[in-house]
Amino acid sequence: MMIDLNDKVALVTGAASAGGLGFATAKKMAEQGARIFLTDIDETSVLERAEDLQKMGFEARAMAHDVTDEAAWKDVMGSVINTYGKLDILVNNAGIAVLGMIKDITKADWDKQLKVNLDSVYLGCKAGLDQMSQQGNGGSIINLSSVAGLIGVPGTAAYAASKGGVRLFTKSIALEYAAENIRVNSVHPGMIWTDMQKVAIADNKEQYDLITAAIPMKRMGEPEDIGSMIAFLASDDAKYITGAEFVVDGGMVAQ
Ligand SMILES: NC(=O)c1ccc[n+]([C@@H]2O[C@H](COP(=O)([O-])OP(=O)(O)OC[C@H]3O[C@@H](n4cnc5c(N)ncnc54)[C@H](O)[C@@H]3O)[C@@H](O)[C@H]2O)c1
Repeated sequence: MMIDLNDKVALVTGAASAGGLGFATAKKMAEQGARIFLTDIDETSVLERAEDLQKMGFEARAMAHDVTDEAAWKDVMGSVINTYGKLDILVNNAGIAVLGMIKDITKADWDKQLKVNLDSVYLGCKAGLDQMSQQGNGGSIINLSSVAGLIGVPGTAAYAASKGGVRLFTKSIALEYAAENIRVNSVHPGMIWTDMQKVAIADNKEQYDLITAAIPMKRMGEPEDIGSMIAFLASDDAKYITGAEFVVDGGMVAQ
């Protein structure tokens, strides 16, 4: 199936890392015809990623953006509209993983985790829904949750709380906007080999082997596996899909 995103404008947050899910998603959507706006708290790198896409012949822009900052969302939305005139697709991808057993998680850790992974999705959806609603032509919002937003895993309590929050927040707002044809869905990656996993696992080969052994497909996923799912949900092929959750995990949570 060739997904068609021609004439669509997509905003992807947390897209600074060349090997991350945000950039893989942006590239996939660009290949299918979308015009791309990338943001990240890491300004230098996100500007480089926009150049990467431009060099591939795609239309892409980027700007610095802290997703926890409400005023920054206004600026970003204004820039997207100034640049492309509209917004059709919003991918709330930026996130961090504050891992550790509950006894070691301080209140400051907890607050930071929820702010970056959950408050940000609230702010982004509010800004995106408002814009799409004004346009009156529907739209698609995809929020990055995780398998950790579906099942319990020791050492992920704060992260799981943020991602579980994203899951049900997504369903609630999907219902609020279904009649306007603005679709909101969550994507739940399993173990995908990005900087986030590289930092969590570091050079611990033993842990890497333990993790991959627990995955039915016996390997971690690639960022493109998530990009393909998001591009599909962004497209009109997914026009009857809203308030739903999509697991991309090599079979992990089927066990
Ligand atoms: N990699 C996985 O296995 C996996 C699994 C499940 C869910 N996820 C989720 O997918 C998303 C992307 O993860 P990734 O693996 O590509 O991670 P990553 O660390 O490679 O990329 C995350 C990006 O978010 C940016 N970011 C962090 N805080 C920000 C802020 N306040 N404002 C703006 N940008 C900010 C970082 O600079 C980084 O570029 C995250 O929400 C993550 O929780 C990843």
